[in-house]
Amino acid sequence: MSDELSQRDKIDLAGCELRTARGSELRRARDFARAVVDRELRARGIEPWYGAPGGRDWERESALQAFLQAQPGARFVVCERAGELIAVARTTRFETMDEALEVVVAPEYARRGLGQALLAELWPGTPTPDLGRLAFVPGTAADLNLYLSFGVMPVAGRWHLRIPSALYRERRAAEVVDEDPAPVHVLEAGTALDTWAALEESALGYARPWLHEWFARDRVALGVVAGDGRPDAVCWVSADGDVGPAVARRPEDLVPVVLAALDRVASACDAPELAIQCTTPAWWLLRRLRLLGFRLHWPSWILSSVPCPALDRYLPVQPPALL
Ligand SMILES: CC(C)(COP(=O)(O)OP(=O)(O)OC[C@H]1O[C@@H](n2cnc3c(N)ncnc32)[C@H](O)[C@@H]1OP(=O)(O)O)[C@@H](O)C(=O)NCCC(=O)NCCS
Repeated sequence: MSDELSQRDKIDLAGCELRTARGSELRRARDFARAVVDRELRARGIEPWYGAPGGRDWERESALQAFLQAQPGARFVVCERAGELIAVARTTRFETMDEALEVVVAPEYARRGLGQALLAELWPGTPTPDLGRLAFVPGTAADLNLYLSFGVMPVAGRWHLRIPSALYRERRAAEVVDEDPAPVHVLEAGTALDTWAALEESALGYARPWLHEWFARDRVALGVVAGDGRPDAVCWVSADGDVGPAVARRPEDLVPVVLAALDRVASACDAPELAIQCTTPAWWLLRRLRLLGFRLHWPSWILSSVPCPALDRYLPVQPPALL
């Protein structure tokens, strides 16, 4: 993690102390951020959902969060007043992209410049061709106004969709069976990583090899393998029922691999609901999910300093930790 802050000493912001945080403070920051965002969502009539029924267990979630935080260039700052956490902000860095993981200010301290100060700390100056910026945000006037002044613009929506598992099974069983279904297989980790290496950069505009190495240790890869044996699509799916990320050669190739992952979760996990993150340009997939009965629960925006080339053939990470 960068120690720019410690070199500059601590920033004094109207009695608040802004400092670089340690990895051991991740859980405290996550609990704080979740409580604030939960309140924000409920005020908008949205029931928060983070994964497993009854809430995601931190021991599992922490592995990915700690990994993202340990990457070179990742930043994690907190702001405290009298020992109480009042704001947090985190980023992680891929080769050419800095992604904001969360920027959250306690409502009692809102509109005092804290969000601006935190983001200015993590994202000084303007984005460059060598290092872009990306975030996904709930889409209130507050977060959109705040982020847009840091050189990012809305590129697409990111929709959190859900369906009761029993309804999904019933609808899938009733679907007219495709006479020539796309062949979906479990991929060897090496093949999955090669497929991500071949397809991801042209979809997102940047590659995340170390992220997929982490998923390869934690999740199973399903792939659509037709023709020449090179997969046309790949999707990570975890034993806990997290489906994604996924990427495909063509937008329509995303559909069979994501449905195969959902089928796997629906038959193996006893969660009452299935959840998925879908980009709004992924029309093929979105249309099929809607026809199956998935409903939108939590719309958010993807903001980026450069256009993402082909989000119509990409499925975001679940749980929603990053794009
Ligand atoms: C979004 C959030 C981080 C803003 O923090 P903040 O400390 O209140 O923001 P600041 O006081 O630094 O304001 C910075 C800019 O944000 C925008 N902004 C902040 N609050 C706003 C509001 N209620 N309405 C419209 N714009 C707002 C303005 O452009 C503002 O600049 P200005 O005052 O010069 O017009 C904070 O409201 C928050 O934590 N919200 C809940 C969590 C959340 O949704 N986070 C998003 C990512 S997970």
